[in-house]
Amino acid sequence: MLRVVVCVSGGGTNLQAIIDGVKNGTVTNTEIVGVISNNHGVKSLDRAAAAGIPGFVICPKEYAVRDDFHKAFLDKLSELKPDLIVLAGFLVRIPEEMVSAYPGKIINIHPSLIPSFCGTGFYGLKVHEKALERGVKVTGATVHFVNEGMDEGPIIAQKAVNVLEGDTPEVLQKRVMEEAEWILLPGAIDDIANGRVVMENGRAVRKV
Ligand code: GRF
Repeated sequence: MLRVVVCVSGGGTNLQAIIDGVKNGTVTNTEIVGVISNNHGVKSLDRAAAAGIPGFVICPKEYAVRDDFHKAFLDKLSELKPDLIVLAGFLVRIPEEMVSAYPGKIINIHPSLIPSFCGTGFYGLKVHEKALERGVKVTGATVHFVNEGMDEGPIIAQKAVNVLEGDTPEVLQKRVMEEAEWILLPGAIDDIANGRVVMENGRAVRKV
């Protein structure tokens, strides 16, 4: 069983997609052992509680210095002993010590086709605003392993989504979630849990 910890900041629709996948058997060999949020009172925590998954809040504002927050976060992770850490809408830049402590064991979902519309400042609705501003006709989502860079780790899977005439950032965000994110992320976890995808020499390798 792959022990998965999911890190969240808000609504948690990606978390829900993982919970549902584990429940309905499309994600196998996987146990979600904890959900860590950097914010109190978010819907993600309700989703975790409803599924009987322990939820934890580690809030940066409650620590005098950033290093203390990082330490609390890393301590909680090591307590949970994850085989895989999933950043599912986690709006915190993760500490480098975490990347070196869990090599090839952290993945992230990003709502664009990396390397477009990613990196510093590209999060949440902003990603879709920028895609619409640029006038791209196709966007999508990417699941990737996390390295020291911002949205720069090895790409595991991507899925394209059409941009339609009259789209607003909100409408496009919803379509990208429905058609790409909620499929890609549980799929990547299932692949990793069953040894079909691994990180090797800085690349995501699919075993056939
Ligand atoms: C998603 O679009 C994800 O790709 C991005 O933040 C959003 C989180 O949504 N990183 P949710 O909390 O999973 O509903």
